[in-house]
Amino acid sequence: MHGDIASVQTAIRPSIANSSWDQPQFPGVMRESSRGFLGRPTLSGHRNGKAWSTKFEVTDFHHQANHVTVTLIDFHAELEVVITFDLDVHGVLFQRATVKNIGESQYCLNEFIHWLPLPKEATQTLDFAGRWSNERNPQRKEIATGTWVRESREGRSGHNFSIADIALTAQTSFQSGSAWATSIAWSGNSHYLVEKLFDGSQSIGAGELLLPGELILESGQTYEAPALVSVYSAEGLDGVSAAYHSYLRARDVHPKRPRPLTLNMWEALYFDHDEEKIKALIDVAAEIGIERVVLDDGWFHSRRNDRAGLGDWVIDPAVWPHGLSPIIKYINDKGIEFGLWFEGEMVNPDSDLYRAHPEWILHEADRVPPLWRHQLVLDIGHEGAFNHVLEQTSAVLAAHNIAYIKWDHNRVLVDAGHLGAAGVHRQTQAIYRLFAELKKRHPGLEIESCASGGARIDLGVIDLVDRFWTSDNNDALERQTIQRWTAQVIAPELLGTHIGPTHGHQTGRTLELSMRATTALFGHAGIEWNITEATTEERKHLATWAQYYKNNRGLLHSGKMVRVDYPESHAYLHGVRAHDASRALFAYVQLTPTVSVHPSPLKFPGLDESANYVIKAVFPAGEPRFMLIAPPEWMNGITLSGSALAAIGVTAPILAPANAFLIEITKA
Ligand code: DGJ
Repeated sequence: MHGDIASVQTAIRPSIANSSWDQPQFPGVMRESSRGFLGRPTLSGHRNGKAWSTKFEVTDFHHQANHVTVTLIDFHAELEVVITFDLDVHGVLFQRATVKNIGESQYCLNEFIHWLPLPKEATQTLDFAGRWSNERNPQRKEIATGTWVRESREGRSGHNFSIADIALTAQTSFQSGSAWATSIAWSGNSHYLVEKLFDGSQSIGAGELLLPGELILESGQTYEAPALVSVYSAEGLDGVSAAYHSYLRARDVHPKRPRPLTLNMWEALYFDHDEEKIKALIDVAAEIGIERVVLDDGWFHSRRNDRAGLGDWVIDPAVWPHGLSPIIKYINDKGIEFGLWFEGEMVNPDSDLYRAHPEWILHEADRVPPLWRHQLVLDIGHEGAFNHVLEQTSAVLAAHNIAYIKWDHNRVLVDAGHLGAAGVHRQTQAIYRLFAELKKRHPGLEIESCASGGARIDLGVIDLVDRFWTSDNNDALERQTIQRWTAQVIAPELLGTHIGPTHGHQTGRTLELSMRATTALFGHAGIEWNITEATTEERKHLATWAQYYKNNRGLLHSGKMVRVDYPESHAYLHGVRAHDASRALFAYVQLTPTVSVHPSPLKFPGLDESANYVIKAVFPAGEPRFMLIAPPEWMNGITLSGSALAAIGVTAPILAPANAFLIEITKA
């Protein structure tokens, strides 16, 4: 073994190039200029202009099984860095680091980035861009010499946050090829970087994006960098997802109860909190089989529209003269849980809180940041503001039977100062502390992380929340893509997926119930639609679909997510396969019109090749709109071997665009 290592060291020792160092330089994990490194270093900072360049020495190295700890000290810069690497049984690598100021004076930390080397086979990167209602659009591009940087400067991870940065070979697909994925576990400002130097070396990294002077370490103080959570997959992008999902599912805090079928009343009511209307909705919800109902924005003091009230977390007697207890009882009496909306990090200028404490907003100098949805950001890094939100929220929770809260964050942080210094880091830590304290005080409380839809979905907040609101866009056609890529990292049972109204409120598109229901099935399912307006037939379909979700959520929330490499762009074929390959549930989703009469067959990888399976189409929420005279015969059910299903597949029917149906595959 020792011989091997020595040989490997010799094998990779570079030549001495023209116009280069006289001896090879090995910059190591800290990537320092003092060791001949010409790219972006791991750490940068200074002591009032001094100690601006570091040269760390390894002072301790500890290795046990899949855990490595490296301690490095720079005695001149008076810094100690401890880096740990942990590889879990699912192949997920956790890189953590602390930076300690071991000097007497203050040290201003500008940046700490976790880096991983990339092999030359990685010629492309995949990251994600987006906006409100259109999160996580994939961007795949060639790696070129230079640095490709994806920054998040919103003070929340953001709609445009790249939930992962993934290096790939040119051939990597969902099912095959190498992928090197990284995901930064942080909800504040962050950056991902892919760097290719002129010497040919390339690396991928990420870290917290610190604002000027945001992190000044006092003597003896330590900064804990957000973890980088990385995966290598030799089995394509689905291999990456499988590793992330397995790690998430193995956490102690991963939700254990079956994910309750949810009715969120936002799109049914908006700010119209009329008790009779709500009761009518609950009656239909009970008939359908809903297990949790959420009262969204509009229940608290003077919140009759989105211009006032944020900051005053007390029930508004103008709309709820008898408080919330009677409606909660009405809901609970039908065996349904109750959930409530908050947006604790925000304040409207038109609120009692702002009138009393205008100084409790994140701001710089004597400026008030520009309004966004008529609101400002409360500086919860300020103890007074933190306690105000905690105590008011906690009082509502203590006085009612509330199973879960949906916690929103509807604007970005700009000019976000705390007592004259940049305050995003502090704000991010404060919201983590607040969620932890709420959960401690109210055992069993579940929290949904929402931020105008999917603007705070990340591996930083994930251990403190039980659900993410994937997107405000409930249009099933667009949701297909948003869910497909958000689930690249996040396990589907953590992603809220709702059946929206017949005519989508965001896009105005009209979609079949079967399309909306098929799309909403692949996540923590729910409905967000005024179901009192649903026809009798639609309600029957909703009830059948609700039961179908309950019968199948065990599989949907534990199996391996599969995105088939379907050769044509008009459709997605995706699903979930049980780990023992005994069952699978797929959706065939026709996005756009087909070009040919007979589209590519539907093939199902990963089943037990030697076993026989029954494959059939199912329609728990009604049939899709077909564009043919007679659908293929297999849809009624046939038996095929796992190898035939993988290699030959079954004929795809022609559907009208924006239609979908489910395919059940069960071992015979
Ligand atoms: C934005 C969220 O994403 C919506 O679901 C809803 O809760 C509104 N805010 C309420 O203001």
